[in-house]
Amino acid sequence: MAYETIEVRPVTPRIGAEIGKVQLRELSNRQLEEIHTALLEHQVIFFRDQQLDLDSQKAFGRHFGELHTHPGAPGAPGHPEVMPVHADAKSTYIAGESWHSDVSCDPEPPMGSILHLRVVPPVGGDTLFASMYAAYEALSPRMKAYVEGLTATHDGEPYYRGRYTDKGVDDRGKIYPRAVHPVVRTHPETKRKALYVNRMFTTRINEVSRDESEAILGYLVEHCAKPEFQMRFRWQQDSVAFWDNRCVQHLALWDYFPQVRSGFRVTVKGDKPV
Ligand code: SIN
Repeated sequence: MAYETIEVRPVTPRIGAEIGKVQLRELSNRQLEEIHTALLEHQVIFFRDQQLDLDSQKAFGRHFGELHTHPGAPGAPGHPEVMPVHADAKSTYIAGESWHSDVSCDPEPPMGSILHLRVVPPVGGDTLFASMYAAYEALSPRMKAYVEGLTATHDGEPYYRGRYTDKGVDDRGKIYPRAVHPVVRTHPETKRKALYVNRMFTTRINEVSRDESEAILGYLVEHCAKPEFQMRFRWQQDSVAFWDNRCVQHLALWDYFPQVRSGFRVTVKGDKPV
């Protein structure tokens, strides 16, 4: 489709595009349609200079589906579906430091995430995004045949348990999500195949022995992180990134300690991977 109401500038041939000529607070139906098309085409899209408060960020997210509430991280005051993403000199960890697709341990993992940064460090704090279409397509025909039909367990427990105590969360007695998903999923809208295992949540390939699972999973998560499937986004104050968790993994770099990096993420519900 030709874009008539937005500007779309690809960042790499495989993944990512910067979108211009829009204010996310005030979108026409045609702009929304074109933003949706650009997301499907480029997998992660970026907007600069967006003055969004939490209500307008949520309203933007709701154009794409119902909002998802994080199973572990506390929401912003009065906005349970908004996840603060914040790091400063007192932080001992940051959100998303290893490759992942958001909350892939959910039985119906989020389709997309919309992150708006209001404070950025003078340098650093980039986010890396990797195309899982490209990762799947680069597998050898023999490896494609091997992984086709396999399922993997994605478990929130090892990653989330105790993680948010510094934010006042007591998770004793809480049960974190755990789900079984296909190793190769078909994107429900584009119908393209994408690898769907990640370092943060995937614990086991189910149809093979533990040894074999470790070896194959190790190979696949290394493969997914190859530079040729990636792009790197350099944030500015009031940049927004909108990524499609069904075909993208991402990793946040913490190379800016003790500087502040701060913003909010709104996450849109998705469906069961097939
Ligand atoms: C995340 O949602 O995983 C955090 C991404 C980021 O802070 O760049």
